[in-house]
Amino acid sequence: MSDADLVHELKRQSAVAAADLIEDGMVVGLGTGSTAALFVEELGQRVRDGLQIVGIPTSKATEAQALSLGISLVSFQTHPVIDLTVDGADEVERGTLNLIKGLGGALLREKIVAASSRRMVVVADDRKIVDHLGEHVLLPIEVVPFGWESTAHRLGEMGARVEPRHGRDGKLFVTDGGNLTLDCSFGVMTDPAALEERLKLITGVVDSGLFINRADEAIIAGRDGVIRLTKS
Ligand code: A5P
Repeated sequence: MSDADLVHELKRQSAVAAADLIEDGMVVGLGTGSTAALFVEELGQRVRDGLQIVGIPTSKATEAQALSLGISLVSFQTHPVIDLTVDGADEVERGTLNLIKGLGGALLREKIVAASSRRMVVVADDRKIVDHLGEHVLLPIEVVPFGWESTAHRLGEMGARVEPRHGRDGKLFVTDGGNLTLDCSFGVMTDPAALEERLKLITGVVDSGLFINRADEAIIAGRDGVIRLTKS
């Protein structure tokens, strides 16, 4: 099996284990990214087999996937509280289950869905586990388009290297919410909760990819099997 096939298989195992948590009658938050997409695929199969749930998607891409699989979608207007959200992550901090998310470009909707959820479960392969956030990936920060260069400058003054994200077309990447994303290097984070608070105070910042105290459990697949991590 190639490395890519192995990673895909691990993501699938994590996604299937998460699908086992879904019960009839639940309002389910549907994450974004390749691992979450495998969860949605598995959920679609179970819906075809009779499982009765409704979903709230975290992106237009997930919305399209869920609808194509026959999963009924609802809105916050009728369902302001979600029972369980299953989503991927770019890094999962060992012990705290604090996360970096947003490499897939959907952090704002993902964060709103997570904040509305009674329970959030992360699905990932074991490459995503880190001792400290920022070890492997940049921190995505969603910003308002107006004056984004000024917002980027102020983030730079906090010590970050800041790169505006571009799409495949070479233009600035625009999120589902019509905002831009700045990929920021803050280095390895010793106090991500404090950083999150500082970022939220910057005018022009909509939200960051730091998910502090949001995840209740992480279902992590590795070569030795699937493990379930909870906050210690
Ligand atoms: C989407 O915006 C991200 O937060 C994803 O959840 C994250 O990038 C994980 O994606 P993969 O499962 O594709 O690694």
